[in-house]
Amino acid sequence: MNNIVFLNGQFLPSNKATVSIFDRGFLYGDGLFETLRSYKGKPFALGLHLQRLCEGCRTIGIPLKLNKKYLFQCIYKLLKSNGLLKTDAYIRLTVTRGVDYGSLAPFALSKPTVAIIVKPLHEKIGQYQQKGIRAIFLNNRRSLPHIKSLNILPNVTGMMEAHKRKTQEGIFTDGNKILEGTITNIFISDGNGIKTPPVSDGILPGITRRLVIEIAKRERIKVTEASLTKGELKSCREAFLTNSIMEIAPLVKMENKLIGTGQVGAFTRRFQQEYKHMPLKQIIP
Ligand SMILES: Cc1ncc(COP(=O)(O)O)c(C=O)c1O
Repeated sequence: MNNIVFLNGQFLPSNKATVSIFDRGFLYGDGLFETLRSYKGKPFALGLHLQRLCEGCRTIGIPLKLNKKYLFQCIYKLLKSNGLLKTDAYIRLTVTRGVDYGSLAPFALSKPTVAIIVKPLHEKIGQYQQKGIRAIFLNNRRSLPHIKSLNILPNVTGMMEAHKRKTQEGIFTDGNKILEGTITNIFISDGNGIKTPPVSDGILPGITRRLVIEIAKRERIKVTEASLTKGELKSCREAFLTNSIMEIAPLVKMENKLIGTGQVGAFTRRFQQEYKHMPLKQIIP
């Protein structure tokens, strides 16, 4: 695929967009990323994603200066040059600490590398939303779980393990506690309220998770942020997974156990519909 990408202020065909072999993102995974979705040419919740990116940069000391309006224009231009204005699309922003010839601890303040790619949504997303996802438990965890770091080897191997076992997601655990998926946050429901692990358990503060909680509060649905056990997940009535690209996908089977009836629950459907209406109302918070 030779589409147009953004790299350090330039719009280039992807085969011409190259980063240095000394880039710390390549050498050490020293950087952060954001994935978000556009709806008919408009990036959704860009402000929230940039806020999380900037907080992550502050946490690990990457001196990133971002101009939201400029980035919005860059994304728009990318969507346009790739013929993705009339449809929904995947957007990824990658920031690394940049080129540095020093050692493990950065030698000097380098200029961050900033890249943006856009592409069509994965064809399976609709199927996941309609039919649901099967998942397995994973025994490992991510490091620095609160930031969206480029160091996601546990997520990569976790997703590979999930695919090997003919499922679509792996759920990180800490002993008997469940945390989050390799690319998703998790919610369970008893048909009256929703429950999700707290960020303090060591999960990514997902933007979609936050918006789902906002929807629940607005709809006067009880939200509980509390640690969840494997048993609670296996025996709950409904469960769903969230991320910016997939939005809300029902979780219908965990290992060998169906969740509820194994069908998409009414509560999950309700959240899916409410979320679908959101992007039209609230493009950039
Ligand atoms: C580990 C992990 N948890 C949760 C999420 C969901 O985050 P968001 O809703 O901001 O896309 C992601 C998204 O990629 C993720 O990688």
